[in-house]
Amino acid sequence: MNYLVVGASSGIGAEVANLLKSQGHQVFTAQRRNVEGLPHIPFDASQPNFDFSALPDELHGVVYAPGTIQLKPFHRFSMEDFQHDFQVNVLGAVHVLQGCLPKLKKANGANVVLFSSVAAQMGMGFHASIAAAKSAVEGLTRSLAAEWAPAQIKVNAIAPSLTNTPLASSLLSTPEKMEASAKRHPLGRVGESGDLAASVQFLLQPNLWMTGTVLQVDGGMGNTK
Ligand SMILES: NC(=O)c1ccc[n+]([C@@H]2O[C@H](COP(=O)([O-])OP(=O)(O)OC[C@H]3O[C@@H](n4cnc5c(N)ncnc54)[C@H](OP(=O)(O)O)[C@@H]3O)[C@@H](O)[C@H]2O)c1
Repeated sequence: MNYLVVGASSGIGAEVANLLKSQGHQVFTAQRRNVEGLPHIPFDASQPNFDFSALPDELHGVVYAPGTIQLKPFHRFSMEDFQHDFQVNVLGAVHVLQGCLPKLKKANGANVVLFSSVAAQMGMGFHASIAAAKSAVEGLTRSLAAEWAPAQIKVNAIAPSLTNTPLASSLLSTPEKMEASAKRHPLGRVGESGDLAASVQFLLQPNLWMTGTVLQVDGGMGNTK
């Protein structure tokens, strides 16, 4: 099967791309940096200019993983900060999905996986910009799920809590930070890329009978006390 993983040069997207490749699928990647061993379509979500002709006619799944992390008090966010987070997390996905739609339709049962964050559901201080952008991702997920169900295209999202990837490196850079973060999660640890890749794989099942869902993959953070 043919998959597009956007944001496959590090973290969760890299884990997903490698997993799909190891299962014998054809995996196309798109982000700013090249990914060794996989076809790469140069793509910068902050100024989207995707070359859709580089993709095959039929796409069985699209995973959109680019994300941002800007945490600070609300009064210190500039309008540009909000615009950047919205651009990379939401409008980049809009651009990719609009261009991929004919190819997803052709697969007759394709899956789309987007990335939200636990911060969209929980009220977390200093997360105003990313919480707003990821809430928009969740709205987009539900709206496209409704609109594309007749074409058998399923659209779901995953909302991770803190996961040990380059994106979160500044929050997990010392053993003390790692331990404090682990303790905040009811299941006693932060996430690893593999935890999220397993959930993506679940949402890429061709016969998935689920759409418009936001899967909380967060060590119990969002739904327990
Ligand atoms: N890690 C966490 O704690 C956490 C928590 C909640 C939600 N999430 C979400 O999970 C998703 C994956 O995050 P991650 O932790 O795996 O992040 P990551 O390690 O930073 O990887 C992000 C990927 O997206 C690509 N990317 C970033 N900015 C881009 C841009 N402007 N244009 C094109 N590609 C871009 C990067 O590639 P290039 O740099 O090569 O372009 C990279 O391949 C994100 O949507 C993130 O918001 C993560």
